[in-house]
Amino acid sequence: MALLKTSKLVSAVGAFSPSLGVFPSRASSWWSEVQMGPPDPILGVTEAFKRDTNPKKMNLGVGAYRDDNGKPFVLSCVRKAEALIASKQLDKEYLGIGGLGDFSKACAELALGADSEVIKSKRNITVQTISGTGSLRIGSNFLSRFHVLKDAYLPKPSWGNHTPIFRDAGMQLKSYRYYDPATCGFDFTGALDDISKIPEHNVIMLHACAHNPTGVDPRPEQWKELSEVIKKRKLLVFFDMAYQGFASGDIDRDAWAVRYFIEQGHNMLLSQSFAKNMGLYGERVGGFTVVCADEEEAKRVESQLKILIRPIYSNPPMNGARIAATILNTPELRSLWLSEVKDMADRIIRMREMLVANLQKEGSTRNWQHVIDQIGMFCFTGLKPDQVERLTKEFSVYMTKDGRISVAGVTSGNVEHLAHGIHQVTK
Ligand SMILES: Cc1ncc(COP(=O)(O)O)c(C=O)c1O
Repeated sequence: MALLKTSKLVSAVGAFSPSLGVFPSRASSWWSEVQMGPPDPILGVTEAFKRDTNPKKMNLGVGAYRDDNGKPFVLSCVRKAEALIASKQLDKEYLGIGGLGDFSKACAELALGADSEVIKSKRNITVQTISGTGSLRIGSNFLSRFHVLKDAYLPKPSWGNHTPIFRDAGMQLKSYRYYDPATCGFDFTGALDDISKIPEHNVIMLHACAHNPTGVDPRPEQWKELSEVIKKRKLLVFFDMAYQGFASGDIDRDAWAVRYFIEQGHNMLLSQSFAKNMGLYGERVGGFTVVCADEEEAKRVESQLKILIRPIYSNPPMNGARIAATILNTPELRSLWLSEVKDMADRIIRMREMLVANLQKEGSTRNWQHVIDQIGMFCFTGLKPDQVERLTKEFSVYMTKDGRISVAGVTSGNVEHLAHGIHQVTK
């Protein structure tokens, strides 16, 4: 094709080289102007791990639960739900745009509590989404379309995918102080100070529990003060709850902040994921909720969520939602799940304690209390990038450069090796 600048042709053909403002000269090079993008930081860690031949190698980059043998873990409540579903020989028709009703209802109840006033007065709309990521994306698309202000405030740091999710939906990202490197804990004063200066009516993102990447959560009395200042600033709260049950082992305790904020009158947006707490990573099951002023508003919001979702993926996949709904709505499976999610959380808590005990056994005199105090899948070790590099090079321990480790990848078989490596690079 010859070089052309005809705008008519540009819109008709749609392939246009932005930097040159011309069409490429060969049909085979439509994408000659596309630059190589950087690899995903976490997948990059996994690739390097796979190439390592050291039998003691550890992958602490990826946030997926492993059992004490370091193996992926399928919950027995999931296996049982799958068998139950298979025995019913259900059809594979399309779900509605908002997903499986039995799932969405149970999903909202899990987050808000079975006797939630919001649910009783039907002022929430909850749709099934493509896991937590899809939920956050639908939420940010909704904000971008219907909320007047486009600034969203994230904790610093936040989950790495929050920024591109919000940005790609057309929101602008700002931050508030959250983590204090000096204490490896919550920068409560900094957070309050920054939040109290956010211009009214903007969006604030909060991690409901097991903050990723730091593992640092506010305490209840701190949540109360946060709620107060957020209310004063009239901010719109967007809660991300990707780890309900996974932090403390108790689904109600982990949902405490969400429920408290609702009691305090915050009509929030809420994202939920069943990737971690049910181990349904690849099934992509999640929920997105908008808490509205009343039922009539919820109906209007629902209609617009459907209009948003329809051109993206029409309707969500059914398998994972059937599994999650079966577990949540079948009493024996639900109680089995509650004990299994507690087992996962307890194993992680045990590994935190074993890591610190082994660091002390190695002779480390540093204060590692934050490893125990932090909660959930991740631990922000406080290791500096050069220490992380040494740990990888000399001990084949793979993690992200910010010093975050997935405690779910630590086992009673490899914790000594990890403690030894950490002590060697920090002494
Ligand atoms: C804070 C946070 N939000 C959301 C997600 C969404 O995960 P998924 O899309 O797998 O449900 C994650 C996963 O790591 C997360 O850590």
